[in-house]
Amino acid sequence: MIFRQLFDCVSSTYSYLLASRRGGEALIIDPVLEKVERYLQLVQELDLKLVKAVDTHLHADHITGLGALRDRTRCITVMGEQSSVDVVSMRVAEGDRVQIEGLSLDVLYTPGHTDDSYSYLLGDRVFTGDTLLIRGTGRTDFQNGDPRAQYDSLFNKLLKLPDDTLVYPAHDYKGDTVSTIGEEKRFNPRVQVTSVDQYVDLMNSLNLPNPKMMDVAVPSNMRQGLAQQTIAARGWAVSAAAAVPLVGRPDVALVDLRERAEREKHGVIPGSLHAPYPDLQENIQPGGMLYELAASTGKRILFYCAFGERSAMAVQAAQDAGLSSACHIQGGLDAWKKAAGTVVR
Ligand SMILES: [Fe+2]
Repeated sequence: MIFRQLFDCVSSTYSYLLASRRGGEALIIDPVLEKVERYLQLVQELDLKLVKAVDTHLHADHITGLGALRDRTRCITVMGEQSSVDVVSMRVAEGDRVQIEGLSLDVLYTPGHTDDSYSYLLGDRVFTGDTLLIRGTGRTDFQNGDPRAQYDSLFNKLLKLPDDTLVYPAHDYKGDTVSTIGEEKRFNPRVQVTSVDQYVDLMNSLNLPNPKMMDVAVPSNMRQGLAQQTIAARGWAVSAAAAVPLVGRPDVALVDLRERAEREKHGVIPGSLHAPYPDLQENIQPGGMLYELAASTGKRILFYCAFGERSAMAVQAAQDAGLSSACHIQGGLDAWKKAAGTVVR
């Protein structure tokens, strides 16, 4: 496995670049905007293809690199379903998996630092965001933080992992890089409490100043969504309400870009084809499934995904490849459901 821990010294943030092999797909956790060029350089040097960028939670101390990485690489952005960001490509919940070629991360919902805090378990290691830090825990006094929820996330989830599980947090301010669950259980001063009330008192007495970047970072991080208006302005978007009567029309091919697990969990539009987003380039080239479908039948290709991000990127790529009928359902299946569109499982 390729595993790189990258550090932003301004915000003391750790970001993690993961891949199963050289030349394969890569995923990055908690990228920082100012470091995007460095990540892209490293991705290129290691001959990787960045396919997913994940934030453990909405950060208050730095601007996320999610939007910039998506714009540069057309990768999928991932956050938890509680997150108040305007749009990400994929939202995950407890029990879901975030997968790339050769790697699968288990999603753990670990609120407390914020109400959208998640941890990601990858075999012998866990990415704990700001829930569990090395000899510390993330503050719980803003962004819907809740020390009671954090106690539960720590004692009933993270600290129940095997003692030798490696702990990779989103920050460290002292220079530590990694710990283990066993080490944190014994030496982390925040978890040497005997009750939830004691933990709540401890967290409520910290009186920390707000992060310097907070007034800039939080509003900016909430607006990382792809500008789907650009695609709409080119005439390549169909509103969910306008798309509902198109189901079953012989001149329209609905194409679902989501992953199999998303389809199983959230349902599909009846009669739609499945062409996962990672295979898009292959599918829209001459000889590819979608290219040939459009060429041989003259059908209009109507992409959809979860929230309209992947489909907007797919429309642009398909148009670039010469599929001039390609368009998408703006807002994805989320908008479709709100427009009372039928979904089958
Ligand atoms: Fe944080």
